[in-house]
Amino acid sequence: MGRVGNGQMTDVDSLQRLFRAYRDDNDVAFRKIAESIIADHLAANHHDVAKHLRAALGTESKKQASGTSAGLTALPRDRRSGEQLLTIYHEPASSEHLLLDASTLARIDRVINERRNAGKLARYGYAPKSKLLFWGPPGCGKTLTAHHLANHFNLKVGVVRLSALISSYLGDTAAHIQQVFDIAQESPMVILFDEIDSIAKNRDDTRDVGELKRVVNSLLQAMDTFAAPDSILIGASNHQYLLDPAIWRRFDDVILFPMPSPQLRCDFIKHHLNGISFKGSFDTIARKMSGLSFAQIEQVLVEAIKSMILEDRGQLTPQQVSAELKYMQKMVAATERERTLEDE
Ligand SMILES: Nc1ncnc2c1ncn2[C@@H]1O[C@H](COP(=O)(O)OP(=O)(O)OP(=O)(O)O)[C@@H](O)[C@H]1O
Ligand SMILES: [Mg+2]
Repeated sequence: MGRVGNGQMTDVDSLQRLFRAYRDDNDVAFRKIAESIIADHLAANHHDVAKHLRAALGTESKKQASGTSAGLTALPRDRRSGEQLLTIYHEPASSEHLLLDASTLARIDRVINERRNAGKLARYGYAPKSKLLFWGPPGCGKTLTAHHLANHFNLKVGVVRLSALISSYLGDTAAHIQQVFDIAQESPMVILFDEIDSIAKNRDDTRDVGELKRVVNSLLQAMDTFAAPDSILIGASNHQYLLDPAIWRRFDDVILFPMPSPQLRCDFIKHHLNGISFKGSFDTIARKMSGLSFAQIEQVLVEAIKSMILEDRGQLTPQQVSAELKYMQKMVAATERERTLEDE
């Protein structure tokens, strides 16, 4: 197909850039330019042309298709420890049981909707959300939702390994951040920066000011230049307020994952006890589990079910659940006390 759409040719500048990328063997640039040509056609309402071009380009780059078993050119490593900077999950975890409160779900559905309608948005010069900050208490679905998005878009999940990313050697952390972004640029994935607050602490933090500034600045820079149309960048944090405001401004959306409501606790318990005979009221245990995260509720239920099995009973009793719940509440109270002491 020499001519594209309604007698209109792709502009010479784009073609030159495309040829240059080919000449330089720069796969990433080639793909980016090709994608922008497709986006131009979508914007001009040339849907058929865009479809043909997209089919010709394919979803995987040449490098990804013929690369390592990870489907990627070699994953970056810390040059001192040799540890990989990120772990790739080719099969995202099942997210069928994900339960979200209405407002969180609405934000996630919006992300999905925007990406599904990327062409429509492009026609008006907008891009779908691709940089998300998930924040909220531990065990309330941030990581699970990252996998859920990956399932939706048939993407792998890349989890950044903080232990490798954060180096005690000056300058290495900043370089690692860029390398990780480059990988997500090169290969479509959901890239998850867990505990992003630990690399993006407020620049006013008094410790190691020089190095911290450098790290935050390199994260800012990497976020600014990150433009991978098929990847989704997710930062996750338990303490949004620790994040440098300049960082969280750079996210396209900040999504809160709160502790589960009584109704969600009840739904979650029902789901987990599906197929198990339970002598008690779901509502009552859901009420008693107030203040627990999904992950903690899950732990209580698993322990209670295990007790049932070990005691050779065919039925789960409210007493078994209560016993495990009491233990969990004691643990939660002890951690709270510890945290208060640390803060003082
Ligand atoms: N919203 C939810 N719906 C269903 N299950 C959940 C939800 N949140 C957490 N869980 C259960 O708890 C486990 C841990 O949750 P997840 O890893 O998503 O927590 P998180 O918010 O990422 O926590 P952290 O801040 O500690 O990383 C999940 O694998 C799942 O079994
Ligand atoms: Mg997590």
